[in-house]
Formats: sequence, structure tokens, C-alpha cells
Amino acid sequence: MTRTTDAVALNDWYAVATAAELGATPQCTQLLGEEITLQREAGIATPRDSTGAALPAREAYGLLFTTLGQPRRDIVHIAEAAETDRRVVPCGWTTIHASGLRIVENFLDMAHFPYVHHGILGAEPHTEVMHYPSGIDREADEVWATGCRFWQPRAAATDTTGTMMEIDYRVPSPFVVMLYRFAPSQPHRRDCIALFIQPMQAALCRALPIMWLVDEISTHSAMLHFEQTIFLQDRIIVENQRPLTLPLEPRAEIPTRADASSVVYRRWLKEKGLRFGTTEGGA
Ligand SMILES: [Fe+2]
Repeated sequence: MTRTTDAVALNDWYAVATAAELGATPQCTQLLGEEITLQREAGIATPRDSTGAALPAREAYGLLFTTLGQPRRDIVHIAEAAETDRRVVPCGWTTIHASGLRIVENFLDMAHFPYVHHGILGAEPHTEVMHYPSGIDREADEVWATGCRFWQPRAAATDTTGTMMEIDYRVPSPFVVMLYRFAPSQPHRRDCIALFIQPMQAALCRALPIMWLVDEISTHSAMLHFEQTIFLQDRIIVENQRPLTLPLEPRAEIPTRADASSVVYRRWLKEKGLRFGTTEGGA
């Protein structure tokens, strides 16, 4: 296994650990094909590459971020994380045998809700994905899909009656995907969920969802269990897709209206020249 030569992938920040879980004993993991170690040295989180050289380190959102290159952009800014009345729910790391890009694409896809998350995020006969605008925010260099609407029988841990949920999706970097949805208990505010992906190999990664919720009712374990249930359902779907890497050629897989944000996401990755985790780039 060797470090990728993909400069686009190298020059980005990646969440690689939960900061509070780092101790003096080195943890071994992988990033973009490189073996890396993580530990606290004199209390400071220190990632090192396979030669022992120290890598850049930043802590944000309770996570340790590092890079193998020289990122031109900062770690994604999540304004909701600074709102002190929100419930913060880190959902734990899950290893997934697929490209991280596949996980982002699945996160953006609403058409699978009634089938994969039956009774939670969707239910037959409410299978229609209504048209929504999606595109690239050129100034921010992010993918957005806004005003997405889908009928959900149990959109959040507090929801018992079903809701026509409104969701905005945001992809601030190739391996980070987020959604904003109206908070069932305070409709003028929005819940925020981010999925941070650590691309280990072209078709192997770890992913960690964090939720910043407006929810004064649910227990922490209820919110955690809700998200973990959904995410484990998604893991099965993503690991069974073929190929495990993501094709960027527009005609590689048949797009439907439900895939509008997926088409934009793939186009954005192709424009960037990202290869790691795609069928074009291999490792
Ligand atoms: Fe899903």
C-alpha cells in the first residue's frame, strides 16, 4: 500500500480521530493509502506519516484533522457548532468497505429512503422525489441542493406523526457531506448533521456522523440510536454497490431525477480532477 499521488486528495483536511480518544499510545490507521500514527505527545495531538514525520494537526468539532499535503482551504466551517444550546451527538466511527465518495453520494440520495430506511426516513407509497435545485456554489466551491422535500414517517427521534421534511444538502469538500433539516421541535431552526469521512484506501474508509440538534426532549442515547440505525442501513447499501469506487463519467450509471445532486457532485469532482476513490483513479 502506498500513498496516493492524487494532489487534489492530498491537499485537503481529513478527520482521522476523535480528539478525546487520543492518548500517549500511538494509534495506527491509514489515510489516502499512507500508514499514519496518531498520539498525544506532551498533551498535543500529533499525527505522523509512515516515515515518522509530523503532519499538520488541527482540532475542530471534537475531532483531529490532518493532511498529507498543503490544503488551500480551511477545515469546513459549521456555524451551528458554535450555538451553545444545541445537543451535540457524535455517532462513533464506522469502517466501510467502499469509496468514501460512494458514501457521500448515498447521503445525497433521497430515492432510497422508503426502501432502505422504511418507516423512518421514508415509507411507501410516498416514494416520489420532487424536483429540487442543485448546483455548485462557485464562490464557496461547494455543492448545494436546496429545498429538497420528502415525506418522512419519523424524521427525527422526536417525530411520531410523520413530516413533509425540508432538507438542504451541502458538500463542502469531496469527503465531507452535510444536511440541514427543519427541527421538528422548533420549526424556525434547522438541525445540522455532518458526515466526516477518512479515506483510507480507494475502496475503504471510516466515517463519523456528528449531529448538532435542536432537541430538548430526546435522551442522548435515543438520538444516538436513531442515527446509528440509519447509518448502518446505509452501510449495507454502499458496500453492496459495484463498483466500490465512484464512476465520474456522466453515462457510467443511468441518472434519474432523484440523482440530480449526484450528477452535480460527480461533475464537481471531475472538474477538480479528483482521482482517489473514483473508477478512473484507482488508488
Ligand atoms: Fe440512507
